[in-house]
Amino acid sequence: RYERIWMNIGIGSLIIFLIILGILAFGMGIHPPDSLEQTANPETIDIYPPFDQPGVYQTGPNEYEVIMTSFIFSYEPREIRVPLGAKIHFKATSKDVVHGLYVPNTNINLMLVPGHVTEYTYTFDEPGEHLFLCHEYCGTGHQLMQGRIIVY
Ligand code: CUA
Repeated sequence: RYERIWMNIGIGSLIIFLIILGILAFGMGIHPPDSLEQTANPETIDIYPPFDQPGVYQTGPNEYEVIMTSFIFSYEPREIRVPLGAKIHFKATSKDVVHGLYVPNTNINLMLVPGHVTEYTYTFDEPGEHLFLCHEYCGTGHQLMQGRIIVY
């Protein structure tokens, strides 16, 4: 009888854990890609739109979209140019393991998960150059994984 109680407690805490995980992922803007094929094989995510053409695209009068892929130990694109004061919508994923996208002195602190898409919107209010880097340990070249954002 006791085993049963413990089992229920186990299952209960597992469910609570999954719910918390789901809420956290949702809060960080992480969601599955548009199709199942993309979810099943992260390595080939760059044959499907939008990740087949990483880059910066204007989507409105003062709005831009940054399509980005990450992989051991780099990003595509590695250099991002965006105008000052524009709404920048990041849409990023990983092709292999979990990577990070961190831009010091901003609120950009994202987790890029294979088989998932991370979205985040940010507006730069000062011109200049920002380094962005990976802050999730991903292997021997982890420290080298970086790029730059130029706000003009
Ligand atoms: Cu990619 Cu650390």
